[in-house]
Amino acid sequence: MNQPRTATGDLHGDPVHRELMAGLQSRQKTINPKYFYDEAGSCLFAQITALPEYYPTRTETAILKSHAQDIARQVGKQRVVIEPGAGNCEKVRHLIPALQPRCYVPVDISTDFLADAAAALNEIFPELQIEPVAADFSRVISLPEAVDCRSAVIFYPGSTIGNFEPADAVKFLQRMRGLAGAGGSILVGVDLHKDNAILTAAYNDRAGITAAFNRNVLLHLNRLLGADFRPELFRHHAFYNEERRRIEMHLVSEIEQIVNCGSTRLHFAAGESIHTENSYKYTLQDFSALVATAGLKLEQSWSDPNKLFSVNLLSVARDGG
Ligand code: AVJ
Repeated sequence: MNQPRTATGDLHGDPVHRELMAGLQSRQKTINPKYFYDEAGSCLFAQITALPEYYPTRTETAILKSHAQDIARQVGKQRVVIEPGAGNCEKVRHLIPALQPRCYVPVDISTDFLADAAAALNEIFPELQIEPVAADFSRVISLPEAVDCRSAVIFYPGSTIGNFEPADAVKFLQRMRGLAGAGGSILVGVDLHKDNAILTAAYNDRAGITAAFNRNVLLHLNRLLGADFRPELFRHHAFYNEERRRIEMHLVSEIEQIVNCGSTRLHFAAGESIHTENSYKYTLQDFSALVATAGLKLEQSWSDPNKLFSVNLLSVARDGG
């Protein structure tokens, strides 16, 4: 995400700059949530995953651990496992002993991080062939030629799919279907629609880590855009939009203010917000319909006893769907 650029150069042609400025100059100001994950943001997110209120990570891990054999039986052994946005490659660990993949292909935007994660994984599983790919998975990527990635398993945990608008989630799954190929499968973590109080608490932790994570995106933008956001002048606001079944995160300007983004002046009314994230929550029925729209079949869903989270196995038809 941190692309090299000169301090004084013209940034206007740069796609990162263009995407961010377009969002900030919309009527409802927005920032794509992928900009949360600079170094500090990734560290704050790691802290979020350990918070008592934030159930998704530990619940998904418990599901993967307790159903690893069942998942392996359905998926089959000796497959190539591709993980978009693999980060620290933490979750695949729970599947490897049962799944015994022929090759593991973690894909991540952060090259250094990826190399360290692959090395750490190799310590635990010396026999496992790992072929890391440094790429932005939201763009078209090319897979290593050393491995035959046909009939692959795409592993997409973490309910990251919830960050997409449902129509874009369909497009993403269609792309993954193409990548997995005929006979391929997709194993995807999806957070479930549930009681408002549980959801709201998960994004409004008492320790204030989620608030710090949300505000940190402004410091990242200060570097990317040469901007002068003052995070302390923005309040964290997260709520469950029940109608649209999504957590919305916003940063609300406490006062009327001007923020300079390079040479562009941005006006904020007091109480005006920047929409920083949507995290869609699905019922299994809704998710099954979304999967069908993408031309995939929902083979099986695994859940925890409280039905907080789900891990879903989707299949590509033998003829490629
Ligand atoms: C990375 C999209 C799964 O939506 O729960 C956590 C990010 N944002 N707290 C989520 C997040 C605020 C997270 N995902």
